Amino acid sequence: MAKIKLNHQVALDKKHTRMTKPSLQVILTPAIAHLYDMKGSCVVVVDILRATTSMCFALHNGAKSIIPVQEVEEAEVYRLKGFAVAAERNGIQLEGFAFGNSPFSFTPAHVKGKEIVFTTTNGTKCIQKAKDERAEKILLGSFLNLDALIEELSNAQWPLFIFCAGWKEKFNLEDTLFAGALVASLRDYYTIEDDSSEAAEDIYKIAKDNLEQYVQKASHSKRFDRLGIVGDAPFCVKLNLTRVIPELVGDRLIVKKT
Ligand code: MLT
Repeated sequence: MAKIKLNHQVALDKKHTRMTKPSLQVILTPAIAHLYDMKGSCVVVVDILRATTSMCFALHNGAKSIIPVQEVEEAEVYRLKGFAVAAERNGIQLEGFAFGNSPFSFTPAHVKGKEIVFTTTNGTKCIQKAKDERAEKILLGSFLNLDALIEELSNAQWPLFIFCAGWKEKFNLEDTLFAGALVASLRDYYTIEDDSSEAAEDIYKIAKDNLEQYVQKASHSKRFDRLGIVGDAPFCVKLNLTRVIPELVGDRLIVKKT
């Protein structure tokens, strides 16, 4: 009788834990985002190569805010108003704009005190998607602010989605790799029951001892090689260069008050 009671109690404890810990889910690409209810949740948008890395670095280097826009036409309107604009498609800086999307462009000399407009192939679309889904809180994640983000998310106030920008709606390695790094560190604070999170963590376990070597496998790294873009991918997997956490407030990303 005691053993049956014990099993029953264990089951109740597990049920209670599930009820008290918010869920954590990984959305592998925007193409399946419609399967998830992000309303009222915290969404961490991830575009390691390179949008969220560059945005974190720009704010770390003193940018006043980041204005993410989806379309090049929107970016052009801002440019004509005198804003500094970062515009990239297919990894290439668009002609006529101040920046592409290399993190190395966003130095203090270039960005300090400025509002930087961004439009990129995937990352800015993903931010807009999270906004359209009426997330309660939208943050940006990168390896550069990993530990600061883990500390912030361990307060586990809302259901959490790690939203991978992917490449043109397809899965990519580097964003899921980062999602796995978050899953590995947040498992004790959230209820994790989705296979995407498990797969992401397994990818992280494979790669964590040499992220720079692993990220060379990514199709976007190979695209950079073809484009002659050197150094961006290794930089984008450097750990904890900053404590800033970008948060979307209205139409601007600013440094979250922690
Ligand atoms: C993206 O939006 O996926 C990236 O910005 C692409 C890039 O920076 O090459």
